[in-house]
Amino acid sequence: MSQKTSNTMWGGRFASGPDAIMEEINASIDFDKRLYREDIAGSKAHAEMLGAQGIIAAEDVSKIVEGLARIEAEIEAGNFTFSRKLEDIHMNIESRLAELIGPAAGRLHTARSRNDQVALDFRLHIRTAFQALEARLTDFIAALVDKAEQHAETVMPGFTHLQVAQPVTFGHHCLAYAEMAARDRSRCRDALKRLDECPLGTAALAGTGFPIDRSATASALGFSAPTRNSLDTVSDRDFALEFLSVAAITATHLSRLAEEIVIWSTPQFGFVKLSDAFSTGSSIMPQKRNPDAAELVRAKPGRINGALISLLTVMKGLPLTYSKDMQEDKEQVFDAIDSLSLALAAATGMVRDLTVNEAKMRAAAGHGFSTATDLADYLVRELGLPFREAHHVTGRAVSLAEESGVGLEDLPLDVLRSLDPRITEAVYEVLGVDASVRSRRSFGGTAPDNVRAQVEYWRKRLADERN
Ligand code: ARG
Repeated sequence: MSQKTSNTMWGGRFASGPDAIMEEINASIDFDKRLYREDIAGSKAHAEMLGAQGIIAAEDVSKIVEGLARIEAEIEAGNFTFSRKLEDIHMNIESRLAELIGPAAGRLHTARSRNDQVALDFRLHIRTAFQALEARLTDFIAALVDKAEQHAETVMPGFTHLQVAQPVTFGHHCLAYAEMAARDRSRCRDALKRLDECPLGTAALAGTGFPIDRSATASALGFSAPTRNSLDTVSDRDFALEFLSVAAITATHLSRLAEEIVIWSTPQFGFVKLSDAFSTGSSIMPQKRNPDAAELVRAKPGRINGALISLLTVMKGLPLTYSKDMQEDKEQVFDAIDSLSLALAAATGMVRDLTVNEAKMRAAAGHGFSTATDLADYLVRELGLPFREAHHVTGRAVSLAEESGVGLEDLPLDVLRSLDPRITEAVYEVLGVDASVRSRRSFGGTAPDNVRAQVEYWRKRLADERN
C-alpha cells in the first residue's frame, strides 16, 4: 500500500511523499527517540548562541527555548506523538515546535543541519554512557575489594589450564578482577578525553556563512572546545566505536568472572554459593540451583561484540562525509549500553552476595600436589640445589606420592630423604597450603599480607577519587 502524503519538512521539491516501504526504511524515530534529551539540549544551546550573535531575535530565542522545554516535558510525560512520517527525532521535535510556537520555530535550523545535529546528539549520549559505565565499574571494584578483604586468608587452588597449579588466596583472585575493571574504567576516561569536542555548528559538512560562535555552544554543552574540521565531524563515529570497544573488553572480563562463578558453583567444585537472588530453580528438577545470572553475563559478549563488528562494518569504506548508512549506527550501540549496564549490575550483585565454602576451597587447594613448587623452592633455598635439579627431585617426590595415593605433605621423612638425605623435618612447613600462600610475598603475589595491603590501596584510591 502506498501512502501519498507529502513530507511536511522537505515537502517543497517532492510532489508526493515516500511510499510505505520508503518510510519504513528511512525512518529512525522508533529508535532515535531515545536521543530526545540530547537533541533538545543541543537545540537550546544553538538557539541561545544564535540569539547572542544577533543571528535571530531575542524574542524568538525565548519562544524556542520555552517551546523546547514544553516538548521535553511532553515526551517525559508520555504525551508526545512520535511520527514516522517525520522520520527522526530531529524533525519530530522541530515539527512539534512549529505547532507550539509558530514561525519562530523555523529559525532554529539556521546555521545547522541534521548532520551536525545527529553527530552532537549521539556524542552526548555516548558521553553519558561512558560516565555511567565508569560509575558502574567503580561499584563493581568496590564490591570486589570488600570480598577480597573478607577473604584475604582464604586459600583456594590457583589454576593454569584449569588444572590445579599453586595455592592462592581468594582475596587475590577477587582483586585480579578489580585490576581488569580499573583498566576498563581508565579506557572510559581516555575515550572521554577524545570525545570532548563539540560537533555543533559544522552544519551539513562545510561549516556555515553565518557568524556563529562554536566555542559558546561547545561550552554550553560541557565540551572543552569545538571540533576542528567540519568534514571529519559529520563523518566521525569514532566515539561510538570506542564505546563499543571498551564495552566489548569489559564484557569479556565479566564473562570470565561469570564462567568462573558457573564452575565454582557446581556441586563438583562447591567453592561458592550464589544467593537466591541470583539463582533460579529448575521447573522439573527440584534439586537444581542454576546460575542463570552468571550464564547471561557470560553470554553478553555475543551481542556486544556483534555491535562492535556491526558498526565497524557500517563505517568501513564510507566516503566523506555523511551518508545515510550512518543512521545504522545507533540501535546496536543502544543495546550494548543497556546490556553492559545490566551485566555489570548483575556481576556486582553476585560478587556482593557470594558465599564462599572455605573448607572446600582449602581442601581443593591441596589437591594435585599444588605445593610442588614450594618443595622445589625449599630445595633451592635450603640445600642450594640449582632450580632445574630441584624441579627434577620434586618430580620424583610427586610420583612417589602419586604411587602411594597420598599428598606431598603425607610422604614420610625417610621417603623424602631417599631423594636427598639433607632434607629435614622443616620441609613440612613449606608443604602446607597456608605456608605456601604466606610465602608468596613478592610484590603482586598472593600472600594474605599483600592482599590486605592491596585492599588498603584500593580503598584509598576509591576514596581519593570521591574527594
Ligand atoms: N536520522 C539521521 C541519522 O540518524 C539524521 C541525519 C540525517 N541527515 C540527512 N542528511 N539525511 O543519521
